[in-house]
Amino acid sequence: MKEYILENVEQMRQWAGNFAKTLSAPCVVALHGDLGMGKSEIARTIIQTLRGTDTVVPSPTFTIVQSYDGISHFDLYRIEDESELVEVGLSHAIENDITLIEWPEIAKDFLPENTIHIFITQYESGRKVVLK
Ligand SMILES: Nc1ncnc2c1ncn2[C@@H]1O[C@H](COP(=O)(O)OP(=O)(O)O)[C@@H](O)[C@H]1O
Ligand SMILES: [Mg+2]
Repeated sequence: MKEYILENVEQMRQWAGNFAKTLSAPCVVALHGDLGMGKSEIARTIIQTLRGTDTVVPSPTFTIVQSYDGISHFDLYRIEDESELVEVGLSHAIENDITLIEWPEIAKDFLPENTIHIFITQYESGRKVVLK
């Protein structure tokens, strides 16, 4: 377990950029945290670090998944039943890609043992990030 205090969004991006460079496919990063904690910010920084800073990274809240040549970015907030996860391509992504998952709780039975779990909580005006 590792713990980081990131006082502002710049520190968050710097941390996420360094973390991104440690990832290679296939791997899964589960991003836990309430609305506005920075799950999308971390995902966007990872994608832009690995696929270019000019990569446009829209929120997958409505599309469920966005793909970037071997990186899959999921937002499972709108998934109501585990059975929908295969249809949206989660298993395929987990086996092949760098898979970033916001609201990962509903997918817990799909996540491999070596999933990297990131827990983001408010810490003063910044964030505490715990990596497991
Ligand atoms: N370390 C930080 N300290 C303060 N604000 C942050 C930090 N990291 C991100 N933020 C801000 O928090 C918000 C996170 O939004 P977003 O990434 O969409 O959250 P989520 O996807 O978890 O709902 C953004 O406005 C961002 O600027
Ligand atoms: Mg989000």
